[in-house]
Amino acid sequence: MSKIRKAVFPAAGLGTRFLPATKVIPKEMLPIVDTPQIQMGVQEALDAGIEDIIFITGRGKVSVVDHFDVSYELEDHLRNRGKSDLHSLAREVAEKAHVAAIRQKTPLGLGHAVLCAKSVVGDEPFAVILSDDIIQSRQPVIGHMAEAYETHGGAILSVMEVDEGEISKYGCATPADAPSPGPRLTPLQGMVEKPPASEAPSNLAIIGRYILPPEIFDCLENVSPDANGEIQLTDGLRLLLENSPVFAYEFEGKRYDVGDKLGFLQATVEFALARGDIGPQFRDYLRSLDL
Ligand code: G1P
Repeated sequence: MSKIRKAVFPAAGLGTRFLPATKVIPKEMLPIVDTPQIQMGVQEALDAGIEDIIFITGRGKVSVVDHFDVSYELEDHLRNRGKSDLHSLAREVAEKAHVAAIRQKTPLGLGHAVLCAKSVVGDEPFAVILSDDIIQSRQPVIGHMAEAYETHGGAILSVMEVDEGEISKYGCATPADAPSPGPRLTPLQGMVEKPPASEAPSNLAIIGRYILPPEIFDCLENVSPDANGEIQLTDGLRLLLENSPVFAYEFEGKRYDVGDKLGFLQATVEFALARGDIGPQFRDYLRSLDL
């Protein structure tokens, strides 16, 4: 199987759950401590050796692309003042990532966003990372998934078990009655987008990391829009399953849904506590609170 070289980051959503903060600032740029959410996703791809970064953007998202460019004025300023740490922080991420941006002109769903990447991805397998799913793990989850793809092919979706009442927020995966081809992998026989809890075939939720073969593009072109007129990636995957294996990958690590206010706060607190610079002081501060 060919190596995964490209990662697609859908980033055209309006971020209404974080209004008023997201009226002008893209939700992807909201920071966890001091790092924009999308940078954490891009860092995961870079750590896995995936350097071609494709942003699917929309109106008002220019700062997402600018963030991954070199900022001469800022760098010059920091260099002249001898602030080499800050200088390399500003430079690092811009240096490694090769960035392309494509406009999703109408918000027609996640499947449509992925389809927008077709001309840049071409005829090779690729990763999709949803930056509002942050996964804290020792090694990049997308890297493990890419390795699994290189051995087994097909499509690979990260999954985690959720409480029964939560499944209606996610794509829901149905395991097949077939042997696992490798560690953490389960062959799937179906998937359905956000089923009501009473109709959900399992409690296995699809989380925002995917390795997809190029055949997914044909599938997405042939999927019917859902009741809201959106093209869902999950529906495209169900079409793909007719001709290609699709595997669930149970990742190791802790996932935060930073697209949700509570998840955002949880990630902020836990990432801050884990930091060498502010962690100990922040821990003392939390302990001092009369909770
Ligand atoms: C999207 C996908 C869904 C998946 C989820 C993971 O939904 O459509 O299948 O489970 O991401 O975060 P969204 O959260 O964008 O509504």
